[in-house]
Amino acid sequence: MQYSVFGEKFRHNSGITQLMDDLGAAMAAGDTLMLGGGNPAHIPAMQQQFRELMESIMRTPAAFERMLGNYDGTRGNAAFIEALVELMNTNFGWNITPRNVVLTNGSQSAFFYLFNLFAGAFPDGSHKKILLPLTPEYIGYTDTGLGANFFQSYQPTIRFLEERMFKYHVDFNALRIGGDIGAICVSRPTNPTGNVLTDEEMCRLDALARAHGVPLIIDNAYGTPFPNIIFSDAAPLWNPNTVVCMSLSKLGLPNLRTGIVIAHEDVATALAEINGVMHLAPGGVGARLALELVRSGEIITLSREVVRPFYQRKAEQTIAWLHEELGESVPWRVHKPEGALFLWLWFEGLPCTSAALYEQLKARGCLVVSGHNFFAGQEDAEWPHKHECIRVTYAQDEQTVRQGIKVIADEVRRCWLTSLSKLAR
Ligand SMILES: Cc1ncc(COP(=O)(O)O)c(C=O)c1O
Repeated sequence: MQYSVFGEKFRHNSGITQLMDDLGAAMAAGDTLMLGGGNPAHIPAMQQQFRELMESIMRTPAAFERMLGNYDGTRGNAAFIEALVELMNTNFGWNITPRNVVLTNGSQSAFFYLFNLFAGAFPDGSHKKILLPLTPEYIGYTDTGLGANFFQSYQPTIRFLEERMFKYHVDFNALRIGGDIGAICVSRPTNPTGNVLTDEEMCRLDALARAHGVPLIIDNAYGTPFPNIIFSDAAPLWNPNTVVCMSLSKLGLPNLRTGIVIAHEDVATALAEINGVMHLAPGGVGARLALELVRSGEIITLSREVVRPFYQRKAEQTIAWLHEELGESVPWRVHKPEGALFLWLWFEGLPCTSAALYEQLKARGCLVVSGHNFFAGQEDAEWPHKHECIRVTYAQDEQTVRQGIKVIADEVRRCWLTSLSKLAR
């Protein structure tokens, strides 16, 4: 079959597609040590909430039928949007209106729209790119651009910390924002590293974006105020030059595909227009299910009191297991876990590539994600670091994560031993 340029763009094996296919197969088979993918945990207290919300909808006359049987407008469920506006204005003094908000089918689709709105070919013949000030950055961005040469990205500075930890920072000395930049984007907390850019870094990026007249897109999929999987202090940031992307997925509702974009009215309207063409309207079940949580503000308390502590405990536990299993046997470091569901492991000098390590782990029934997928815009850079890291998700049950860490330690040691014995021969 011959496809158009548009069709061909999606037909090479994109990292995000491989990741989601691995995830889907592992979830269906149920016998894999699933430390790949970004599926959130099934947190019993959250699941109980979702069940009660659904039961209440079922009991309310006509609510269930309306939820399933009516299209929303192109911006998404109006009651949810109003409740969200009230929540953000009351709690954070944001001063937004429903004209600033639009829902999408998962925030992933919002990135596809936003990146192609702000980058690619422009009517005046110019070409713009999305600036990623710090790589590694979210794998899901990599193949979103409909044009070529879509991202300009930068390597971070690295600060070494105690207990084998390190932290990436934006290298502001290197950052160049020319006329060919259409928007700046960061995920905060960052997928894959669990990094949380400091408030100071965010303020500097915000100032740079405004000075250059380009929007700052903040991917808040794990951020504050919900799901708030963020273990350090961080203030939510919004002004008319920022585009804040949120999601109900990591709260525990990934299959309801509900993304939320809060942006300048013009941007929100452009996204609603794309929604109209692509989907008629975004799906409304997630928005309807979460409506009462947003109206009551409980979405914030649950995120703070249930979701965040759940993941923080898991992160700390997984790091303790890493020390137990890897100890001093091989060179390893872990990015300081400040949020999200992942640990980012760095095996400096690893004799095989992270892609080869991924394959060896997969053969042993343990799925992780190879780090080389997270470096959009760095394709041509000779930087060994790109091939020395893996992302490990710690959202699954204890036994799975514990066993997965054992297998990873085993395989990394084996990789080193094989290379040393080759050298000795
Ligand atoms: C950083 C980041 N942004 C966006 C998304 C997209 O999430 P969703 O489309 O489920 O809202 C993910 C999913 O894993 C993510 O990790």
